[in-house]
Amino acid sequence: MTYTDLDGRVALVTGGARGLGYSVAEALAAQGCRVALLDVLPDVADSAERLAADHGVGTTHAVTDVTSPDSVGTAFAHVTATLGTPQVLVTAAGITVWNDTVDVSPEEWRRVMAVNLDGTFFALQAFARGLLAADRPGSAVLVASMSGSIVNLPQRQASYSASKAAVSMLAKATAVEWAARGIRVNSVSPGYFLSQMTRQFTDANPDLAAQWVGQIPLGRMGEPADLHGLVTFLASDASAYLTAQDLVIDGGYTAV
Ligand SMILES: NC(=O)c1ccc[n+]([C@@H]2O[C@H](COP(=O)([O-])OP(=O)(O)OC[C@H]3O[C@@H](n4cnc5c(N)ncnc54)[C@H](O)[C@@H]3O)[C@@H](O)[C@H]2O)c1
Repeated sequence: MTYTDLDGRVALVTGGARGLGYSVAEALAAQGCRVALLDVLPDVADSAERLAADHGVGTTHAVTDVTSPDSVGTAFAHVTATLGTPQVLVTAAGITVWNDTVDVSPEEWRRVMAVNLDGTFFALQAFARGLLAADRPGSAVLVASMSGSIVNLPQRQASYSASKAAVSMLAKATAVEWAARGIRVNSVSPGYFLSQMTRQFTDANPDLAAQWVGQIPLGRMGEPADLHGLVTFLASDASAYLTAQDLVIDGGYTAV
């Protein structure tokens, strides 16, 4: 599907160096968006170069730690000066820690919250500040997780689930707050997708992927490209009347 309104629009993707963030950035670039990639990994420079070469659109990048409001502010200032005011935001930066809750250290707990919740908040706040100052409309897509509404088995990841539930609520609250100013905010909640985040566990335990797939009605894990249709639709004006929602994309996992 082509969304002509996205052609030339500036999109900013956090966690954009690899994985679901980079894949979604490719989908936005394929729609003609000029794309800024933010990531804590220095590789983000190569990712931005590859994106520009593969899709023939303007790109930029910033090595950014989303847990730092200063780092996020500097990155947004760079992107705005280079490409223009972002009108599409996708927050894909995220981490997980698997550990029995009684054994989770304060540092682990704070790290998960800092990246997944604080980092999403700082990016969303900077995005809205730019749009409100420029008096322009925009669409934010916060990457939450089905783990924000169901409990995964067998892994223990209470901190991750709590952080992602908060991300979905952050989307709803800000969507209502900014609706009259033309800023839409939704969250997407992927199920099990193939990426480094899941591979770090399935590589060490091949039975795990089989166990997950056995619980997914569509019978497979999601490919990063499975997110393309949903995220480009939410980014574009085709979803102009859709805000303050969480859209679960999980191959049917949460229905059974
Ligand atoms: N893979 C899945 O099954 C799945 C399911 C549901 C939700 N998600 C969410 O999707 C998003 C993308 O995850 P992924 O699966 O592609 O994993 P990934 O580990 O490949 O990508 C996460 C990206 O976030 C970046 N990042 C981490 N900490 C950061 C920080 N402090 N500042 C800036 N960037 C930082 C990483 O460098 C990496 O590029 C995450 O928010 C994750 O929670 C993933």
